[in-house]
Amino acid sequence: MRDNPLVLHVLGARPNFVKAAPVVGGLAELGIRQGIIHTGQHYDALMSDVFFADLGLPEPIANLGVGSGTHARQTAALLTGLEDVVLEHRPALVVVYGDVNSTLAAILVCAKLHVPTAHVEAGLRSFDRQMPEEVNRVVTDALSDLLFATSPEALSHLAHEGVDPAKVHLVGNPMIDSLFAALPKLDPAPVQERLGIDGRYAVATLHRPANVDDPEAARELVDAVLGVAEQVPVVVPLHPRGRQRLADAGLVDRPHLKIVDPLGYVDFLSLVRGAALVVTDSGGVQEETTMLGVPCLTVRPNTERPITVTHGTNRLVTPASLPAAASKALADGAATPSGELPPLWDGAAGPRIARVIEAWLRGDSLSPAAKGALR
Ligand code: UD1
Ligand code: UDP
Repeated sequence: MRDNPLVLHVLGARPNFVKAAPVVGGLAELGIRQGIIHTGQHYDALMSDVFFADLGLPEPIANLGVGSGTHARQTAALLTGLEDVVLEHRPALVVVYGDVNSTLAAILVCAKLHVPTAHVEAGLRSFDRQMPEEVNRVVTDALSDLLFATSPEALSHLAHEGVDPAKVHLVGNPMIDSLFAALPKLDPAPVQERLGIDGRYAVATLHRPANVDDPEAARELVDAVLGVAEQVPVVVPLHPRGRQRLADAGLVDRPHLKIVDPLGYVDFLSLVRGAALVVTDSGGVQEETTMLGVPCLTVRPNTERPITVTHGTNRLVTPASLPAAASKALADGAATPSGELPPLWDGAAGPRIARVIEAWLRGDSLSPAAKGALR
């Protein structure tokens, strides 16, 4: 093992921060030298700073400030910025998270510089290449040296794509670790009071390009959300993407519909914890509602997280079926098919990942038995 090897985490967008915090914590426990590179893909205080504060993440050692742009322009800025940083710091391992453009760029840069990489949340597939995230997932997994799977079906997806099983570790879900850690702080009352919400309510988050970028799709979606608001007051902490288009389509403050800025992590999950229903197109929120036992309707034709349907509270809906599905979910509550959480969603994924990384840095390759003992 190199003397005091450095592990770098490349983070850029809101869900990255939530997934990374338990891994950073786990590596810190083991005394491994590490640093965070913030790409600046997300930059508003409510999309970034608030997560560092709420999750207790250390200050980044660099912020590349790449900001927004088309896929090509944003990815190009990420590639050049990350190449400089990786050459400067010469890490022993770069850890990337999820499926955002910052993740894709970091993997490409490291592959070309022969710097080893680890992908947290490997093997998820929606099988929908229209989603930018699906392209990012496939490329990232093809090029990663260590692959950390959050869900068992990821193992067969990776095997099907020819990934060497020796590189793959089923470790559980670090996003759920962050949720476990936050649970004692999740109190719906203060945030409800601040937002003026009384009684039963639903929370909606909407930001997928397929839902919000096209005016016609946005109008269909907003009409469906208004159909839910006829049944129960709806609070929408609105992602900046598509804000104007959704407003133009009628997603504006009105009786039973409250549009607010994105919420901080603890405030958002507090609000979700107290909700009768969640409507979303987020990836992470499908998992968090499963863990919290809150009914979730995902307005998408597919999900890369089917375990939240088979083991959780999630149901896929179309805009047309959303109002009726909301009515049923409000009547039934959170019916989970199996009554059990997905395997290894136990709050200990971060330490498991840290132990694999520690062994890898030492040059140990884990035997199947050692892999089993991690669980
Ligand atoms: C990105 C991810 C998506 C993830 C989401 C999490 C990719 C391809 N997509 O989508 O998978 O679900 O983050 O939230 O990486 N903006 C701001 N302030 C910010 C950040 C963005 O106003 O702090 C606005 C800009 O107008 C920008 C738009 O949001 O053009 C989209 O931002 P971008 O990071 O490109 O993609 P997201 O839609 O956020
Ligand atoms: N989230 C938040 N405030 C909000 C909306 C979401 O803190 O107003 C959190 C949410 O709890 C989850 C993460 O942001 O941990 C998910 O991010 P997002 O939905 O933007 O991305 P995705 O998971 O779809 O990639």
